[in-house]
Amino acid sequence: MMGELPLPAMAPSAPPAASPSAGPSRYDRADWASAFVNVEEEHSNLPLTASRGTIPAELAGTFYRNGPGRLERGGRMVHHPFDGDGMVSAMRFEGGQAWLSNRFVRTEGWQAEEEAGRFVYRGVFGTQKPGGPLANAFDLRLKNIANTHVVKLGDQLLALWEAAEPHALDPDTLETRGITLLDGVLRPGEAFSAHPRFDPGHHGGPRLVTFGVKTGPRSTIRLMEFGADGRLIEERRDTFPGFAFLHDFAITPDWAVFMQNAIAFNPLPYVLGQKGAAQCLASNPTAAGSFLLIPRPSGRFAGEEPRRLTAPPGFVFHHLNAHADASGTEVVVDSIVYDDFPSIGPESDFQQVEFEAIPAGRLQRYTLDTVSGAVSWKVLEARTCEFAMVNPQRQGLEARYGWMALAERERGNDPLQAIGKLDLVSGERRVWSAAPRGFVSEPMMVPRPGASAEDDGWVLCRVWNGARRGSDLVILDAATLEEVALLELPLAIPYGLHGSWVPA
Ligand SMILES: [Fe+2]
Repeated sequence: MMGELPLPAMAPSAPPAASPSAGPSRYDRADWASAFVNVEEEHSNLPLTASRGTIPAELAGTFYRNGPGRLERGGRMVHHPFDGDGMVSAMRFEGGQAWLSNRFVRTEGWQAEEEAGRFVYRGVFGTQKPGGPLANAFDLRLKNIANTHVVKLGDQLLALWEAAEPHALDPDTLETRGITLLDGVLRPGEAFSAHPRFDPGHHGGPRLVTFGVKTGPRSTIRLMEFGADGRLIEERRDTFPGFAFLHDFAITPDWAVFMQNAIAFNPLPYVLGQKGAAQCLASNPTAAGSFLLIPRPSGRFAGEEPRRLTAPPGFVFHHLNAHADASGTEVVVDSIVYDDFPSIGPESDFQQVEFEAIPAGRLQRYTLDTVSGAVSWKVLEARTCEFAMVNPQRQGLEARYGWMALAERERGNDPLQAIGKLDLVSGERRVWSAAPRGFVSEPMMVPRPGASAEDDGWVLCRVWNGARRGSDLVILDAATLEEVALLELPLAIPYGLHGSWVPA
C-alpha cells in the first residue's frame, strides 16, 4: 500500500526506460522522500497546459483523486502518511484542455487541528497527540480523515475512509457538504468501505457495489448496492467468525468476493496510548485466511448462504478483478498478494523504510471452486506491483488486460516507478517508466468513447517528479503505453491513494 511513485526526469528527450534487472535500486531516496510535504495551496478551475505532447480532444470527464495532503502540524510529522488529512483533486478535461481544482476535505478533525495548529487526534496508523502515552491513553476517538478514495454517487462526490461514514463534496467546487448517511442508509459512525466497485450493468443499469465491516470476535459484512441515482437498491448482512480485516473486495455478476486475511488484533497497546489501532494488527500464524463469497442479491445464488474457502498463505489489500465461468460456480479472482502483513512499528520512521526488508506485492490468480471448496493459484506478475485495474467495462467479467503500478526493477522491492500493461492471457507486458526520478501512483484506465477494443483509451497517472519536487499528470496510450501528454501541475501533492474517472 505504499503510495505512488515518481516521474522520469522530464527532459523532452527522456531516453527509453533501461531494461529492468534484479540489480541494485537506481532511485535516489531523497527524491522519493521529497513527496512527503503538506499541500500548501487550493485551486479552483485553474487552466493547465501540456508541457509535452497534446491533451486528447476526445478525453472528456474528470479525474478525481484522494490522498493524504497534510503530513505535518506544529513541527511534527504524522507517524505514517495514511494518517494525513484527505485532500481531493479534480482534473477536468474537455476539448483538448484541462483544469485543476483541489481542496482539503473539511472534516471535523481537520478543522479542529487547523485551529489548534497541532495534532488534536490520534491517528489509526500511529500518529500520537503531543505528550506521550499518558496524553494518548484511553482517547479512543476516531478521526475520520476522509483520505482514501473519492467516487461519485448520485449528485455528490464521496470522500471515503473505511472505518466511518463518507463525507459528501460538491462535484464541481469540491466544497465539503459534510458527513452523509446517504439518505438514512447508514447509522451515525457506521463503517463504509473505501473500495466500492462499479458494476457496469450486470443487472440492468450501472451500480455502485460496496460494503461496511463491523469487526469483533465475530465480524459482520453489510453488502450494499446503489443505483446511479444514489439510492440503495439491495443489501444483505452476513456474520463470520473471526476478526475481519477487509480493505477491498471484487465482484462478479453473482458474487461479492472477499479475502479475509489471517490477522489478529490486540487492542491493548492502542487503549494504553502506545500504538495506533492499525499498529495492533499482526499476522496470526495459527490461522489460515479465507475467501468469503457472498451471493449478490440480484445474482443466480441470491438468498443462499455465503461460501467460505480456505485461502493459501498470503496477505491481500487489493484485488484487480474477478470473473466466473458460465455456470457461476468457478470463480477466478486476481489479487495483489504479500507474503506477510507489512506492519508499521511505533519506533519506525516511515521515511527511512528499507524497501528490501518489507514484503513486496505480486499479482496472483486464484481459482475458487465454490462447490468442492478447492483453491488453486498461480503468479501472473512477479514484479513488485500495486494499484491494478481492468477496463471498467470488464469489471466482474473476464478481462484480457490489467494496468498497474510497477517497481522499476524486475525483482526486488522498491517504490513504484513504472506503469505496466499486462496481457492476462499471454503474459506479455508493456511498461512506461518514470525512473529514475519519477514515482507513480494508481493508474487510471479511461476507455475512449465508443471504443470496441478493450485497450482502446488512455491511462492517466499522477507522478511525483523528484527532479522538480512537484506533481505531474501523465497521459499514456492505454494500448501501447506510449506517452501522449505530460502536464506539470502547480502543486506538490504527496503520494496519494485512490481515485476515479467520471465521464462528462
Ligand atoms: Fe486501497
